[in-house]
Amino acid sequence: MKVLEVKNLNKSYFQGQLKTQVLKDISLGVNKGDFLGIVGPSGSGKTTLLYCLSSLENIDSGEIFLNGENISLFSDKKISNLRRGSLGFVFQFYNLIPNLTAYENILLANVIANEVNEEKIEELLKLVGMWEYKDYYPNQLSGGMQQRVAIARALVNNPEIIFADEPTGNLDQKKGAEIMNLLKRLNEEKQITIILVTHNDDYLKYCNKQINLIDGEFVDKE
Ligand SMILES: Nc1ncnc2c1ncn2[C@@H]1O[C@H](COP(=O)(O)OP(=O)(O)OP(=O)(O)O)[C@@H](O)[C@H]1O
Ligand SMILES: [Mg+2]
Repeated sequence: MKVLEVKNLNKSYFQGQLKTQVLKDISLGVNKGDFLGIVGPSGSGKTTLLYCLSSLENIDSGEIFLNGENISLFSDKKISNLRRGSLGFVFQFYNLIPNLTAYENILLANVIANEVNEEKIEELLKLVGMWEYKDYYPNQLSGGMQQRVAIARALVNNPEIIFADEPTGNLDQKKGAEIMNLLKRLNEEKQITIILVTHNDDYLKYCNKQINLIDGEFVDKE
């Protein structure tokens, strides 16, 4: 079964009366363990697509199935629970809370999902190579380190899917490759499905599937 399936998704934004259709009749299927890369020019709708797939944005029409369940029909509360439990997010700007330590940032994500698993947090901080820095605040960490903490945070509630929106966008090439290797390892060792938005065609080598989004439409890339 597909872990994520999208049928005929349409999404517009309004600015006053002016309607801009950002996603045009998007259909796609993602299998468990896929590493899907989404590329495309700036403004083509990549971030919007991630937001729609994870129900952070409402859609105009279409259907989104998570493990066969039509989440477009879920209540807001059910979607929030789902998002906390099954979906993990990693953004371009690490989005860590500045007055919480690395450890506390992860703990908070865990608490929000009604769980406190200290062993798990330790395991994840070790996994991303940040255990020694657990008591550091974000501004005491490099960008790559903050991103590794953000990845540990995304993992703490055992997500099935990680959505990563240009997770290496603010990192130099070496740090970027480290983050990509970490995502690949999680994908291979833990079978976590990864949906990655990137500007960097080099990163498509980490992916087993790719989608090229141009002006809100999928375009086959040969
Ligand atoms: N909240 C919003 N309100 C109105 N328009 C929006 C909103 N968010 C995005 N848009 C518009 O939707 C289009 C797609 O934006 P989106 O952020 O999805 O692009 P993107 O492919 O992620 O670009 P980038 O590579 O620069 O991050 C753009 O034209 C943008 O102006
Ligand atoms: Mg974007």
